[in-house]
Amino acid sequence: MEKPKKVLILTGGGDCPGLNAVIRGVAKRARKEKNWEVYGSIEAFNGVLNDPQEIVKITSKFTAGIHVRGGTVLKTTNKANPINFPITQPDGSTKFIDRSDELVRKLKALKFDAVINIGGDGSQRISKVLFDKGIPVIGVPKTIDNDLSATDVTFGFQTAVQIGTDSFDKLVTTAESHHRTMIMEVMGRDAGWIALHTAIAGGAEICLIPEIPYDVHKLVKRINLRYKKGRGFVNIVVAEGARPKEGTITSTAGEKGSEHVRLGGVAYQLSKQLKDAGCKAEIRETVLGHVQRGGTPVAYDRILASLFGVKAFELALAKDFGKMVAFKNNEITAVSLEEATQDYHGVSKDSYMVQAAKGLGISFGD
Ligand code: F6P
Repeated sequence: MEKPKKVLILTGGGDCPGLNAVIRGVAKRARKEKNWEVYGSIEAFNGVLNDPQEIVKITSKFTAGIHVRGGTVLKTTNKANPINFPITQPDGSTKFIDRSDELVRKLKALKFDAVINIGGDGSQRISKVLFDKGIPVIGVPKTIDNDLSATDVTFGFQTAVQIGTDSFDKLVTTAESHHRTMIMEVMGRDAGWIALHTAIAGGAEICLIPEIPYDVHKLVKRINLRYKKGRGFVNIVVAEGARPKEGTITSTAGEKGSEHVRLGGVAYQLSKQLKDAGCKAEIRETVLGHVQRGGTPVAYDRILASLFGVKAFELALAKDFGKMVAFKNNEITAVSLEEATQDYHGVSKDSYMVQAAKGLGISFGD
């Protein structure tokens, strides 16, 4: 009998609703081929790098019903980039080393016929390096931030927007009842997509995003006008990466081993800025944080993630490596890893969506 072929799946970076649906999609499609076996590396590439290795066989029992679950059954990390791997030094400091050659050696020894790397821009940069070093890689894009240029949407985004909108609706009732100004902070890193979509869906008066620095005095004017007109409440959505025209983003150093600063807390900064600039309204702040990434994926994300999983395996079957699955112009397709990692996809201030939001009366404070 012909030796079975083997595909390895892994999830890297932050968790994201829909990851499990991709894993199940790959596994179910592979099962139709009879001579394929599906494996998972635990905690991104750590499962391959670690000694002993942590590689699990993905059986039908393993994937049964997981498309409904948030998180990732394969676990993940955003502190184990094999190209820039953190090593704690005896004095407690962190040194970053390149372990990509070691990873390539270990992957080649395991003789996988395909490696499916599910992750955001950082993960796809790793995919590209591995592909260039001879590993048969296929990328699958994931991020709630929706900031990848090579795909029109990423799974996880709609779930984050839905959670943002549900939370916003809940805050509106308190804003109305108490004549308050409610600030709700959402995730998104340097992209304002979650904030913009949530603001439109929720009907916010103000939406602040990283791509459009705000003028705090204009915001105070707008808020005061609302109160003057007798509409004694204001609802603000602020993206965690938003910043004033004169000022910087609110961030703290990442944890040990992290390559990124941590965003979060801009809601409190904004609240103070508004008060300092003379805003008399009673203000309350809510930072949604990781609830936006948690729980079950909405139907849209389950569908997109499942189709991505099937497509990723079909690329493996066709030996069409060095590609990332994408959703472009209403079609599931694939782009080269080169293209996948080239550009950043933020909100354009001249886009129709921003103009339409303004048409709906939403102020960006610009
Ligand atoms: O990229 C996804 C994301 O949720 C961002 O929106 C957020 O800034 C970041 O990850 C949070 O990362 P962590 O889970 O490491 O705190």
